[in-house]
Amino acid sequence: MNLLIQDAGRYYREQFGEPDLIIRSPGRINLLGEHTDYNAGYVLPAAIDNAVYVSIGKRKDAKIALYSVDYQEHFEIEQSNLQKTQVHWANYVLSIVVTLQKAGYFFDGFNAVVRGDIPIGAGLSSSAAVECAVIFALNELFALGLDKMQMVQLAQQAENEFIGVKCGIMDQFASMFGKQDQVIQLDCRSLKHTYFKFQPEDHQLLLLNTQVKHSLADSEYNLRRLDCEAGVAHLSRIFPEIDHLRDATEEMIESELKGLSNDVYNHCLYAVQEIKRVKEACTDLMSENYIAFGKKMFETHKGLSEMYQVSCPELDFLVAFAAKHKDVLGARMMGGGFGGCTINLIRKDGISDFIDRASEAYLETFGILPGAYPVTISEGTSLVQAQF
Ligand code: GLA
Repeated sequence: MNLLIQDAGRYYREQFGEPDLIIRSPGRINLLGEHTDYNAGYVLPAAIDNAVYVSIGKRKDAKIALYSVDYQEHFEIEQSNLQKTQVHWANYVLSIVVTLQKAGYFFDGFNAVVRGDIPIGAGLSSSAAVECAVIFALNELFALGLDKMQMVQLAQQAENEFIGVKCGIMDQFASMFGKQDQVIQLDCRSLKHTYFKFQPEDHQLLLLNTQVKHSLADSEYNLRRLDCEAGVAHLSRIFPEIDHLRDATEEMIESELKGLSNDVYNHCLYAVQEIKRVKEACTDLMSENYIAFGKKMFETHKGLSEMYQVSCPELDFLVAFAAKHKDVLGARMMGGGFGGCTINLIRKDGISDFIDRASEAYLETFGILPGAYPVTISEGTSLVQAQF
């Protein structure tokens, strides 16, 4: 059995007795479709091997008692009047309880232990994984009757309202709905999703972690959203059918937004191009044309860096380095930006040479070693052990 599941069970037993359930919820990657979810566009994420494990059991009172194995920290609170606390990791658990209460779901107290191996701050959505694990666990434990889609929407609401991060739906969706060796093409407007096999014989996905997260990340994320909304507000006066950038074309942006602020024009143009790119990339996946797919990854990076302006020197360096390596088919920054990981599509037999060279060059330039994680695409949120 996986060591992390064992840990989640063992720590629970040490503190609270036998857990009723253990749930696994994974981190996510995104192959293409960055900053398109909140524009009602398409994304192409997948769940990964690294995951959060939550062991959980009922209590006889209304308390919530938590333990984080990774932070080696206990946390206890009464369920009435839940507020954000100073304990950062516990807030993700509380965010779900508060959101469920708001939606009219009430339950008794519970104990939970959280254990995970998703690198924090690397842009792999460890927070969405905790939220999805907890909502899935509570739904099972108290038989709340929610389906996966409702859980995803509530988990996103928890992040938006309680945590205060105005993220789109991609991270929670990918964590919950991931499937082994498949990427998910998600239409973020209709939530219709299609799985595409991603199992290249000679290639592999590899993440390089810049090990930085610039403080701009959250504020710039919200500013990009505002620019996209400003573009939509302007366009919809001329084209009333436009509700999100998903509905706009490059021609509309060229003709109507060019005279406006440079930022609004560039940011909106990138988003429209990226939404189109995801659709085309799925055709590449169907024909297993990984060379064409890789090219699109480089194009996305260029767009994110030069037009959408959410990259940073560390990410640009690793992508430029990858572009020069003979075995890399595609590379780009991944996630919100300003740090975190690059995602690379690389020939399997070139991986160790690429990691060595990229690490040496990155260390020489920035004084830190990047992290390197080969990716395995895995199943989404699930029950891994139940006592009943
Ligand atoms: C973060 C957000 C997602 C998405 C990406 C950018 O990961 O949580 O909803 O907007 O940034 O694609």
